[in-house]
Amino acid sequence: MASKLFPAIARSTRHAILQVPRPQWRSFSACPQVLSDVLAVHRNKPDNNPSIPFKFNQENLKIIDEILKRYPPQYKKAAVMPILDLGQRQHGFTSISVMNEVARLLEMPPMRVYEVATFYTMYNRDPVGKYFVQVCTTTPCQLGGCGSDKIVDAITKHLGITPGHTTEDNLFTFIEVECLGACVNAPMVQINDDYYEDLTPESIVTLLTALKDSAAGGSATKVPAPGPLSQRDTCENGAGLTNLKDVTWNPKTFMRKDGQL
Ligand code: FES
Repeated sequence: MASKLFPAIARSTRHAILQVPRPQWRSFSACPQVLSDVLAVHRNKPDNNPSIPFKFNQENLKIIDEILKRYPPQYKKAAVMPILDLGQRQHGFTSISVMNEVARLLEMPPMRVYEVATFYTMYNRDPVGKYFVQVCTTTPCQLGGCGSDKIVDAITKHLGITPGHTTEDNLFTFIEVECLGACVNAPMVQINDDYYEDLTPESIVTLLTALKDSAAGGSATKVPAPGPLSQRDTCENGAGLTNLKDVTWNPKTFMRKDGQL
């Protein structure tokens, strides 16, 4: 009996639900709510609005000429990425005025430049500190060495800021990022254009202290050279050569005799 009643109950319930009047409006956006603190849209601020003038300096204008030579004249908008990067290096961040100037130079609609600048995370659309500290927290860096969690903790405690923030003296901006391609020397951090690898909580604090000292013009702590801070060379085995030590074949018999490869 129940098996005969069930389809009828299901049908009538569905019918009743469909009869309930539904609101004749839809959300403006069908996307899930974005809870990030980084807005994909521009909001005018005192230090970032279109009325702030921006022009490339003479040195960068020469570099732009060189960059544009790489592309056919009708495709010069293909140079948008390196020129945005140049603007960011000159101005300190990719402001709306930088984007507008790039659009003017490349004769492209400003919206096309905004699309590029908002898509790629390497363009900072807000001011950052003198040292832009990007800590990789992707899985290999989480698992390699002491693990990136300890590095994040050490930076948080040392600088007194959480990821996504800048210190009050505007020296350090600290963010977490995805893989930076140096997983073999995990955990690692990128500071401005340099990679520092094989980190420990102690070595990252020493590095940050040295950077702060050098920014103040001091020389109490020497800023370490970029690369692994574990003293090993690039990504060589720290224990030295452990295999492939013997030549097991004779190159003379292995190579062709006619000189061809
Ligand atoms: S996972 Fe950190 S550099 Fe690749």
